[in-house]
Amino acid sequence: MRIFIAVRTRFAEDALAAAVERGVRQLVVLGAGLDTYAYRGALAARLRIFEVDHPATQAWKRECLAAAQIPLPPCLTFAPIDFERRTLSEGLTAAGFDHAQPAFFIWLGVVPYLTGEATDSTLGFISRLDASAHVVFDYSDPPETLPPELRAWHDRRAAQVAELGEAWINYFEPRQLHAKLTALGFAEIEDLGPREIVSRYFPGRAAGIPGRGGHILRAVTRKNS
Ligand SMILES: C[S@@+](CC[C@H](N)C(=O)[O-])C[C@H]1O[C@@H](n2cnc3c(N)ncnc32)[C@H](O)[C@@H]1O
Repeated sequence: MRIFIAVRTRFAEDALAAAVERGVRQLVVLGAGLDTYAYRGALAARLRIFEVDHPATQAWKRECLAAAQIPLPPCLTFAPIDFERRTLSEGLTAAGFDHAQPAFFIWLGVVPYLTGEATDSTLGFISRLDASAHVVFDYSDPPETLPPELRAWHDRRAAQVAELGEAWINYFEPRQLHAKLTALGFAEIEDLGPREIVSRYFPGRAAGIPGRGGHILRAVTRKNS
């Protein structure tokens, strides 16, 4: 699990660096949690960064930052939004996000906790922006499609997170997800499943890795700017 978290961050930040080279200057971290990019990222100073999160989580993070005496960088704006109650468009507009400029969305560790409607609404918003938009998010294959050992691990972990009040409720069949993204206008869909993740980041160690499980996906909309 820890390796997956490190790898998804590496994948997202490599894609972000490539997008910055292509002129992207806005970064939106959706469901930021304790994400630290704004405070340490090599390219943070070249970006306007919006951290979007549930108001309660964001308030807790700000207390943690203050307690650790970590200064808030000038590039950072907090945008408190409950995805189930307020649209991303409303929350980002209030925070000063420029809908006409290209943007990169990092959305890690959030999709499994959202309803399908909330996920669709966020992907729809990103796809309708006036300028090109990049998104990176992670998701999992449906549990019933996992090989038995992984299914057993999944069920144990899912029960633990549900007990903490944060149940995993959202899964995707890769082909259906790609079709949904394509219909929304996303292109360049790059989707790494467990085997592709290991092949890319731990070469030579992919033998025996299941083809199903956690995925990390990148997609881009193509607009005139
Ligand atoms: C597991 S954490 C992931 C944090 C971070 N992105 C990471 O990769 O470690 C899930 C995040 O989703 C946020 N989240 C869950 N439901 C949400 C909702 N309805 N509205 C806004 N944020 C939500 C939580 O506040 C939390 O920050």
